Amino acid sequence: MTISKKISNICCIGAGYVGGPTMAVIASNCSDIKVKVVDVNPNRIADWNSSNLEELPIYEPGLKEIIAKVRGKNLFFSTDIENSIREAQIIFISVNTPTKTYGKGKGMAADLKYIELCARKIAEVATEEKIIVEKSTIPVRTAQTIKTILENTGNNIKFQILSNPEFLAEGTAIEDLQNANRMLIGGDNSTKEGQDAIACLSSIYERWLPKERIIKTNVWSSELSKLTANAFLAQRVSSINAISALCEKTGADIDEVARAIGADNRIGSKFINASVGFGGSCFQKDILNLVYISKSLGLKEVADYWEQVLLINDYQKMRFAENIVNNLFNTVSGKKIAFLGWAFKKNTNDTRETAAMYVANFLLDETAFIHVYDPTVKSNQIFKDLELLSSRTTEENHKLLKVDTDPYQACKESHAVAILTEWDEFINYDWQKIYDNMKKPAFVFDGRNILNSDKLKEIGFKVYQIGK
Ligand code: UDX
Ligand code: ADP
Repeated sequence: MTISKKISNICCIGAGYVGGPTMAVIASNCSDIKVKVVDVNPNRIADWNSSNLEELPIYEPGLKEIIAKVRGKNLFFSTDIENSIREAQIIFISVNTPTKTYGKGKGMAADLKYIELCARKIAEVATEEKIIVEKSTIPVRTAQTIKTILENTGNNIKFQILSNPEFLAEGTAIEDLQNANRMLIGGDNSTKEGQDAIACLSSIYERWLPKERIIKTNVWSSELSKLTANAFLAQRVSSINAISALCEKTGADIDEVARAIGADNRIGSKFINASVGFGGSCFQKDILNLVYISKSLGLKEVADYWEQVLLINDYQKMRFAENIVNNLFNTVSGKKIAFLGWAFKKNTNDTRETAAMYVANFLLDETAFIHVYDPTVKSNQIFKDLELLSSRTTEENHKLLKVDTDPYQACKESHAVAILTEWDEFINYDWQKIYDNMKKPAFVFDGRNILNSDKLKEIGFKVYQIGK
């Protein structure tokens, strides 16, 4: 029996940055499978169904082209969670797992309440055997939680739980999915049913990925690999950022150091770009998770080791913000500062844990006026991010921070321009025009090292770059 033949319906719970693009790519590669993405948030679903493809809830290069091709054919977005669960043979759980903001593990552990709600819903409505796939980033042993809930609250139906962590990076999600360098599937490989479930999910990915790229492990290895992969990546950024501070004190140039060490193929040249600090929904959350799990298991030294990656990241964000104040003659009060970029990296409209909000928060505490321009992030999102930090009232935030839709307007009359996201378009701006319209001395703080500092200096700017 080829198990893949049985798969005619897939359901994905959670229509976010992971669920949306992942299901779009599955649907486009499996025209015979009906893929339904469901969400509790009707506005999100309405945005996914919008006839104007510019209104999709997330911005990802290549996404709208796929949506245009498969939406309404074999890809559907819906709020009808129950029927979608009932119809599907495979259910992906792609709901958010934010860091807990209350109770035990507050500020560290992942909040699994949305995962638990999904498991309870599946148990309640399922009438036939199903494969449940954890796609959300979750702490090790979450599969066990899901299994226990399904077995204790369900209608005595058999479930197989698989861990299939997401390795896509935002901004390149479609390429990462279509051309994944590895696909990890963890399952209960000690039983025939478990092996069948792993083979079944694998057969979906084998439609477009070479078989040898699909790595099969036990559930716990798969869950821990996800956290470990993100911790290693984040550690590279913190390592290079730590060295960037040393460069600034010694006259070494961080880009030269990165090139020199990256030429060693044991180290490699990727993911060693010094920056204002990493952001995004994964790195901080996953490391906090790793730290929390290690502590809970009595592994204090392991917890302390990984925590340093976060401490350096916080230090880097604050160093950048303090440097702006120090250079602007120790006060930014009442001064206009332009922010180019708010997203946590280019080619996304995601702002979760973006360095920009922490730098802005620091400068707003110093009563600076900030004007933000970002090509994809909407004004209401920027204010939502600031609200999350609870540093001042909504009115105060609106008084001190404005969002512009024109970058030249954002920079006009400012004392300093700060680059917070590495959007390509910033490189080719008319920097002479920006300079002419700024207060003098005119400063540029390039938190992503993307601008040509020699050219800027020729124009007359005072330039600060990371690790230079
Ligand atoms: C990350 C992982 O890369 C991905 O595999 C996982 O599935 C989810 O988490 P993502 O958060 O989307 O993906 O973006 P990533 O490209 O990893 O960047 C994370 C942050 O690190 C960004 O803020 C980015 O600007 C920063 N970064 C990255 C650097 O500062 N320097 C670098 O050299 C690389
Ligand atoms: P991620 O980056 O992990 O995809 P997002 O926050 O972008 O995270 O998306 C997660 C989605 O999951 C949100 O749209 C949220 O409304 C949805 N969600 C959360 N809990 C549930 C639930 N119990 N049932 C259905 N959808 C849910």
